[in-house]
Amino acid sequence: MSDLALAPERVQGLHRSDGRLERHTADLARLESLGASTMTAVSFRDLVGSLPADESSHSLYPYPARLVRHIPRFFLESGAIGRDATVVDPFCGSGTVLLEAALGGRQAYGIDSNPVAALIAEVKTTPLNAEKPEIEALARACVERAAAGRRKYEPSLFVEKWYSRAAYSMLCRLAAVVEVMCQNVDRPQANLLRLALARTALDHSIRDPRIPVPVRLAESPNTNATSDDVRRGFLRVTSRLATLACRIPNDLPTVEVRLGDARTAASWPCPETPSVMVTSPPYGAAQKYVRSTSLEAAWLGYADARGTRTLERSSIGREHLDESERARSADLLKDDELRENVEDISEVDPYRAAIYLNYFVDMQAALRVGLQTSRPETVILVCGTNRVVGMEIETHRHLARMVSAQGYKLRLKVRDEIRGRTLLTVRHRGSQPAHAEVIYMFDKVCAPASIRSGA
Ligand SMILES: C[S@@+](CC[C@H](N)C(=O)[O-])C[C@H]1O[C@@H](n2cnc3c(N)ncnc32)[C@H](O)[C@@H]1O
Repeated sequence: MSDLALAPERVQGLHRSDGRLERHTADLARLESLGASTMTAVSFRDLVGSLPADESSHSLYPYPARLVRHIPRFFLESGAIGRDATVVDPFCGSGTVLLEAALGGRQAYGIDSNPVAALIAEVKTTPLNAEKPEIEALARACVERAAAGRRKYEPSLFVEKWYSRAAYSMLCRLAAVVEVMCQNVDRPQANLLRLALARTALDHSIRDPRIPVPVRLAESPNTNATSDDVRRGFLRVTSRLATLACRIPNDLPTVEVRLGDARTAASWPCPETPSVMVTSPPYGAAQKYVRSTSLEAAWLGYADARGTRTLERSSIGREHLDESERARSADLLKDDELRENVEDISEVDPYRAAIYLNYFVDMQAALRVGLQTSRPETVILVCGTNRVVGMEIETHRHLARMVSAQGYKLRLKVRDEIRGRTLLTVRHRGSQPAHAEVIYMFDKVCAPASIRSGA
């Protein structure tokens, strides 16, 4: 691996003051000149420089494995993404790429199968047609009606055990009132109130706040949470979300967020203008997007008697497999090396091998369907490696080969040592994504014969 771009003198050489477009265009050309066959180490944080922590609505809501915004920023500012291009992120999560694209003047389109992610992404990228005091007044009205009212929204059964009796009862009343209120305000305001409810419910649960997936805390400060705590919490959260949402410029280009499954062609757009796909796809089994947002999903009405298991069905990288998924054959994978990897894992742990097999089969389907439907001019893929039963799986390389197979030519490949995108549970330390991302950039060449013939 070449680490030229990380050497401090090299990084200093990439001017960092004004003229970002010229600077980043030169940086991109310099990285490309090193050749796509070498893996160059680079720090996008250094290339872009520090960005304000409170920029626009980026910090509106926490979400597991959020992308470092410096990566899309760099590509948007380097000319790699044309001024008229639509940016497509089929695994948009909380909307980091979408917001960056829109702030950079591009229309954007996102897909995510997790309804909590889709809600966060939409709130983050939709201008609020109201001032903060109006939103605070709505929140106060909700709280007053919840205190006086009897109507209750009862979420899926598994939720109750995460709350004190008083907090649960108030949340049920607040949820019912918020739902009625949402029918009388416009969509951006309704979405903000729903997100505030979800956050309040999370904040008052007895889960351990240091662990992304719900794990019970033996001595939680919320064990005795009162209904007053919940009401005050809702007012506080709504006010904070409104502050951040009010920072979204009113003239932001259109961002469309779709709750959908990237494996299905209908979820993908067919933009009339050229498009660029920028995405950080789900990791293998160490990333539990649905479980980590299961309490919020339940309060928002997305859970059923099986909790969030039904939602998990459309989540790539899921850990719970049904019988037919467990029985899937490695022959479904088109790549010999990948098949061998899965067979090696299977010798140590057949269930984990099945999880990975399903992960790669699903990613293969999503990339094939999506790239054939949207045919973006350029694809920017951000992905890492995974450790599975002690073996290092180069997930990024396997996904990159799937993109190439759809008629794309590699233009750039760099590695960034990024911290903080893991979503581990205590139990699965043996199955973790590494603290580095590989960023691939591809250009469309032509559709391979198999695609042209519709195979
Ligand atoms: C690495 S995260 C993306 C994080 C995002 N870049 C951000 O900054 O928040 C991957 C996302 O893929 C989503 N995902 C998993 N399976 C999916 C599917 N079948 N279709 C669409 N999205 C899916 C997960 O819900 C998760 O939000």
